[in-house]
Amino acid sequence: MNVENASTASGSRFRVAFDRPVVQGAALAATCDTGSAWAQVPPEPTAAERLVLKDRIKALLVQRQAVLVSHYYVPPDLQDLALETGGIVSDSLEMARFGRDHAAQTLVVAGVRFMGETAKILSPEKTVLMPELDATCSLDLGCPVDAFSAFCDQHPDRTVVVYANTSAAVKARADWVVTSSCALDIVAELKAKGHRLIWGPDRHLGAYIQRETGADMLMWNGSCIVHDEFKALELQALKAQHPGAKVLVHPESPADVVALADAVGSTSAILNAAKTLDATTFIVATDNGMMHSLRQQNPGKTFIEAPTAGNSATCKSCAHCPWMAMNGLAALAHVLQTGGNTVTVPPSLIPRARQPIDRMLAFTAAKKAGRALDGLVPHLVPHLGAV
Ligand code: 13P
Ligand code: SF4
Repeated sequence: MNVENASTASGSRFRVAFDRPVVQGAALAATCDTGSAWAQVPPEPTAAERLVLKDRIKALLVQRQAVLVSHYYVPPDLQDLALETGGIVSDSLEMARFGRDHAAQTLVVAGVRFMGETAKILSPEKTVLMPELDATCSLDLGCPVDAFSAFCDQHPDRTVVVYANTSAAVKARADWVVTSSCALDIVAELKAKGHRLIWGPDRHLGAYIQRETGADMLMWNGSCIVHDEFKALELQALKAQHPGAKVLVHPESPADVVALADAVGSTSAILNAAKTLDATTFIVATDNGMMHSLRQQNPGKTFIEAPTAGNSATCKSCAHCPWMAMNGLAALAHVLQTGGNTVTVPPSLIPRARQPIDRMLAFTAAKKAGRALDGLVPHLVPHLGAV
């Protein structure tokens, strides 16, 4: 990631460079060029402002009969507010399930755009609000639907599996949506049933799943600007300084970083590993927004951020997603007050985009309940298709 920062009265404006896979004809080239996007991070409220804003948000959530659904990477106040008001802080899979199943008719999603869109696709009848509609994701940006569809069209015999970090239109082109907490299980099952895959957009998560399952996967070449920055050499040096520490890694990180992990998994899996692994010190390779829940839920344990290129000349990321950082208390209070920033998904896309998300949720529910997965993942018979 290459980030330039300009501070203004309304916060810090970041220009963010991200990988944009190069498509030649419909074939995917091995290289990426560089796209550019922006993020506007609000100024930190003072302690007094925070108290006032938090009280106002609590009252407005009650007034609107709304529930707050936060991701682990958003600022700590938005995580705490979700827990204090009957909402949830979770990984992206659980955010989707919770929003779908909750009785509230208004969902307020603190995270990035694809999370709000997934909530809307699963509950078109509900109002879905977000503090910032412009909070995006480099994986979503790096996977435009036209290019991705052309790539898929070149390989009609392959099952299309996309990460949740994609637009509604890309989901509507997919057979399956997965998140990092269920991708391994779903791809293993697809492989067992004879499927060969197209995978998009995260190349590191895809490569990890491929190594673990041996599945035949054609990869899109996107990456997460945060996790792509973790560095194996520096991580090795940090491990040497903390010989008793366990290393927790999100699989959006590069392969040589994943190879150093004691536990690899989604944000929820990282939290779970911190609770259950036999260690008191952990080095954590994921967005540092995660540190809040890790420290809150593991008093007495020490959490150290895994190294990025933060000290080098090319990167000033410090392992924090600038789009997650756009979620602020003032914006949250404002959308609850005004009902602005409603997430919309073209109604014509919703039924098709919902299919692969429903498949994922049905699969994970069956897996959790120990039910048979057979009816959920069809056998693929070459030349006959799914049976
Ligand atoms: P999970 O929370 O599902 O692990 O995903 C991380 C992520 O990509 C959020 O931006
Ligand atoms: Fe996307 Fe990475 Fe930010 Fe998550 S942390 S929203 S994957 S850019």
